[in-house]
Amino acid sequence: MDVILTGSIAYDYLMRFPGRFVDYFIKEQMHQVSLSFLVDEMTKHWGGNAANIAYTLALLGLRPHLMGTVGQDFADYRHWLNSVGVDTSTVRQIDDVFTASFFVNTDLDNNQIASFYTGAMEFARYYPIAEAYDGKPDLVVISPNDPQAMVNLAKECRENNIRFLYDPSQQVPRLDGEALREGIRGAYMMVVNAYEAEIISQKTKLSLDDMRRQIDILVITHGKEGSHIYLDDEIIEVEAFPPDEIKDPTGVGDAYRAGLIFGMSHNLPFKLAGELGAVCATYALEQVGTQSHHFTVAQLIERFRTHFEDDGLLDAVLTT
Ligand SMILES: Nc1ncnc2c1ncn2[C@@H]1O[C@H](COP(=O)(O)OP(=O)(O)OP(=O)(O)O)[C@@H](O)[C@H]1O
Ligand SMILES: [Mg+2]
Repeated sequence: MDVILTGSIAYDYLMRFPGRFVDYFIKEQMHQVSLSFLVDEMTKHWGGNAANIAYTLALLGLRPHLMGTVGQDFADYRHWLNSVGVDTSTVRQIDDVFTASFFVNTDLDNNQIASFYTGAMEFARYYPIAEAYDGKPDLVVISPNDPQAMVNLAKECRENNIRFLYDPSQQVPRLDGEALREGIRGAYMMVVNAYEAEIISQKTKLSLDDMRRQIDILVITHGKEGSHIYLDDEIIEVEAFPPDEIKDPTGVGDAYRAGLIFGMSHNLPFKLAGELGAVCATYALEQVGTQSHHFTVAQLIERFRTHFEDDGLLDAVLTT
């Protein structure tokens, strides 16, 4: 299955401040805040929703096409993605800006001060699928991106009869009701968490049943409670996969999506595809960072079988 992942590709800079921010906010000085926090710990991670999903799909042996806009500082990230098997020939580099970057400083109370710099992602609105890819892909995933780019990509898919998975997740707060309705219109699938589903419902005035009528496959994830896959009149309940330890919850949603898409690419029943998503999510949960987990398909299946049943169906995946 030829899959194009559109959406954010970003660097995450995570800092730890060995003090408490509140000690530095002085009431009498609030009219001229000028603070610098000396941090003694910083890590830089590869991130961005589209890149995260592409990463796990590559571990699963698909060769996903990553489509997005990045800046002059992308060379090491491109090298990394190429080395794991992601096609980055569809990533467009804009030389006079930086790649989207997320800077977050966390203090001893786990209070955070963060900034997200859009950078090159802003140019995604000028980058249509037709310029990235010859022919018709089997699936386009529309993940959080420049809001206008998300609207444009959904439109392009509808007009060209390309199946798309609408994945607005982290951008739900930024998208208005009209943009969300445009994304849902004609979508083959939508995957969101329960909180996002509620906000979408409020903003679009569409009930869950309205959404089910418009979208062939609606997936709502519920954190450690698992996920629900709504298919026609059916609701498939998928359990979460028990983790050995929880190190960092960021990126679980992206890993889940990759496992689900992988299962669908092998025409497996949806319950099994969702369970594959749950196992991938657990691998991500057990590592710090969103592209730090690693497994082979054989290891994934072995682990899957310690908790879920597949009646041998996954044997076919191993031999292809
Ligand atoms: N604590 C957990 N234990 C086991 N599995 C989990 C846990 N949290 C999440 N998962 C798995 O990941 C899937 C997606 O989780 P969730 O609904 O939290 O996504 P999300 O809110 O989009 O996450 P993200 O922080 O990546 O945006 C769940 O359906 C479940 O399979
Ligand atoms: Mg999410």
